[in-house]
Amino acid sequence: MAIHLDHTIVPAHDKEKSAKFMAYIMGLEYKGLFGHFAPVKVDEYLSLDFDNRENFWSNHYAFLVTDEDFDAILGRVQGEGLKYGSSPFAQDDMEINHRHGGRGFYFRDENGHSWEFITHTYVKEEMIGDIGRLRRPVDKSASSL
Ligand SMILES: [Fe+2]
Repeated sequence: MAIHLDHTIVPAHDKEKSAKFMAYIMGLEYKGLFGHFAPVKVDEYLSLDFDNRENFWSNHYAFLVTDEDFDAILGRVQGEGLKYGSSPFAQDDMEINHRHGGRGFYFRDENGHSWEFITHTYVKEEMIGDIGRLRRPVDKSASSL
């Protein structure tokens, strides 16, 4: 069994502007509207479906990237003159972190969403063990659904 996040809606004040901007920052391609969504395909699985909303909570989106992509993404954030930071509580200290044996940073877009890029996952070995356990065949007799 393999479960992947296929798509998620990213609420925005201007969906196409936001989709183009994040596609640029992430080094991806924005290919235009699909229905009423402005999707940005991140990889073979995930699509960020930007959509207009009047009111919404700011969300947090975190991406695991290579060192090369990290440098490129951080470079584009810096090139745009955006504030960035080293922790969820310091998203504008203009520093990166070195947690979990990698590098990471955060920045907020004009919608207020917090975008995070890391080169090493937060997932710890014991959590990976849990994931392995969860991947065992499901005992359907135990299901109450
Ligand atoms: Fe995070």
